[in-house]
Amino acid sequence: MISFDFRNSGVDLEAVADRIPGYLEKIHARNQGFYSAIDEISVEEIEAFAAAADYDDVVVLGIGGSALGAFCLDRVLGSNGPNLWVVDNVDPAFIASIEAKINLERTLFLVISKSGQTIETRAQYSYFKNCVEEAGLNAEDHFVFISGADTGLNPKFVIPENVGGRFSVLTPVGLVPAALMGLDIRALLKGAKTMRDSFLNKSFEENLPFQLAAVQFLAAKPNVVMMPYCQRLSAFVEWWRQLLAESTGKEGKGLTPIEALGVTDQHSQNQLYNEGPNDKFLMMIKVEDLGIDLPTGMDELSFTQLLHTEMEGTVQSFTENGRPNMTIKIERLNEETLGALFMLFEAMTAFLGEFFEINAFDQPGVELSKQITLKLLSQ
Ligand code: PA5
Repeated sequence: MISFDFRNSGVDLEAVADRIPGYLEKIHARNQGFYSAIDEISVEEIEAFAAAADYDDVVVLGIGGSALGAFCLDRVLGSNGPNLWVVDNVDPAFIASIEAKINLERTLFLVISKSGQTIETRAQYSYFKNCVEEAGLNAEDHFVFISGADTGLNPKFVIPENVGGRFSVLTPVGLVPAALMGLDIRALLKGAKTMRDSFLNKSFEENLPFQLAAVQFLAAKPNVVMMPYCQRLSAFVEWWRQLLAESTGKEGKGLTPIEALGVTDQHSQNQLYNEGPNDKFLMMIKVEDLGIDLPTGMDELSFTQLLHTEMEGTVQSFTENGRPNMTIKIERLNEETLGALFMLFEAMTAFLGEFFEINAFDQPGVELSKQITLKLLSQ
């Protein structure tokens, strides 16, 4: 389903293979639920809720880890039902643009916040609640809360206490929007569970999340470029960017994620990646079956062949220039592979935290800016 090609990474991965048991012990001691909560999800409850819901538009009110997962699910897999809108900003022009596209009578708002305190989400909720009430509608029919248990919001779906925002896509945070879009949440969880088994495996050959963390740590570059050759995965890159940045950026350490897209950025970024500062580890993603292929009309060349050949050319150019790189290969994109990808990167991030000797699961910098903003607002 998912495999790696590390030949151009320039590192000896096996040198750290014996660290797996110790790192797993440390991760377990951190009492994080991202890999166990998937066993406790009430799939039937979420499916029943989605089956009974009859809306044309679903609007996610949330930000950061409470928004990016739903955005990614929509962009990568596409909705089979209502349109999904993710209001992950407080730019009034953006909010107005979404408001203009929805019919309030036929809209469900998902208010998603682990803490229930985030000012952006509270402001979005306050605004749309007024809109709904001014339209003479009953707010109870149009708002559903997904939050921590003790937020006072009376959530319909609870975010487990030990799952942080950016690790929460496989909880109701991502699964409720996914189910409303008609996606197969059982397949998402199946893929995640298969990858979780890999994460808990003490054998280096079997442990994909460990391999992926080790290669980035050993490459010893401060920046990581993720460059999928698949348009749909650009939303996955946005999800990963938060996960990597917010989890590893601590105590003066961390990896800076850089978003890229093949082939588009070959004509925008590749000059820098090939001949600029050699401070990047390049992570390419190849999707073997893109779900459709089209003939270009040039000889026998199809668009998939062109895309994959361009990727090979780019990989070879990076390698010739001594730029460490690797390729993640995915057979095809569906609920199961996306579930596996989410778990792969979450578990990889947990291992990276142990490599860097930091707590990958807190975000004191984010909390500080939230507190300062609230203080400024209260003045
Ligand atoms: O990953 C995180 O913890 C953050 O990005 C949060 O998801 C974000 O700040 C939103 O927080 P909350 O879900 O409490 O509203």
